[in-house]
Amino acid sequence: MPSTDPSFDPIAEPARAKLNLALHVRARRPDGYHELETLFAFVDLGDIVRIRPGNGFTVTGPFAGALQGEGDNLVMRAAARFAERFGGGPWAIELEKHLPVASGIGGGSADAAATLRALARLQGVTIDALYPIADALGSDVPACLFGVTALGTGRGERLDPIEGLAGQPVLMVNPGVGVSTAEVFRRWDGVDRGPIGGGGLLDRARAGRNDLEPPARAIAPEIDAVLAALDALPGVILARMSGSGATCFALFDSIEARHGAALAVARPGWWVAETALV
Ligand code: C5P
Repeated sequence: MPSTDPSFDPIAEPARAKLNLALHVRARRPDGYHELETLFAFVDLGDIVRIRPGNGFTVTGPFAGALQGEGDNLVMRAAARFAERFGGGPWAIELEKHLPVASGIGGGSADAAATLRALARLQGVTIDALYPIADALGSDVPACLFGVTALGTGRGERLDPIEGLAGQPVLMVNPGVGVSTAEVFRRWDGVDRGPIGGGGLLDRARAGRNDLEPPARAIAPEIDAVLAALDALPGVILARMSGSGATCFALFDSIEARHGAALAVARPGWWVAETALV
């Protein structure tokens, strides 16, 4: 059991799920990463990180099991990097895991970013000062650090905030299979299909695509069934896979349409979550 100071209320930070409303892969780089253009958005659903003085790391929540025995957790790496740079600790860290693991919605990246934000609040560090650590931890961690709608370029770490679609109803569906991001990128066909266009966010997203869908579908054919189910629903504005998959999402024109869709797509073994963009 971790030891904690019971007199100290934990600092809690939400680790919101990330969606890629569009993800255009533009080029393979010599360093093994890929040059991207992506529309990052965040939803009102995620994991929760709680930190207080003490020792230990506990994982709770519906997806805790998927992380058991994972020694090199991004949360622990984030805390270690923070301590190297800013000092402090030791800390007792609790991760309440609500998001499926290895699923294209940035769970691990959001957890690392929430850990950094919580530690920054504990020690009076600004969020901006965390950027270099976030960048070193992973391509999606800077986006998760700020948690705002943004155009991401480079390997996803260069961010230009854009006007979002706060409140837009979202359904997220994962077919219960984990997909390796590195493996999906390795199978990208190397064809640059062009940049994300201009205009408002919804127009840009709808005219765009996720270039990782074909390689992810080759690895996890279950994604085909999810996208087919989402595409067939009434009230869908946009249905697409997020990140390297296998989670797919749909934007809806109303909460009622989203709720009807949630009931209609439910299948044994599928994770279905009703939420909204923030
Ligand atoms: O940056 P991160 O560690 O999250 O990336 C995981 C893997 O995904 C990388 O090792 C790389 O294989 C792939 N990746 C990529 N291009 C990106 C982001 C990730 O090839 N822009």
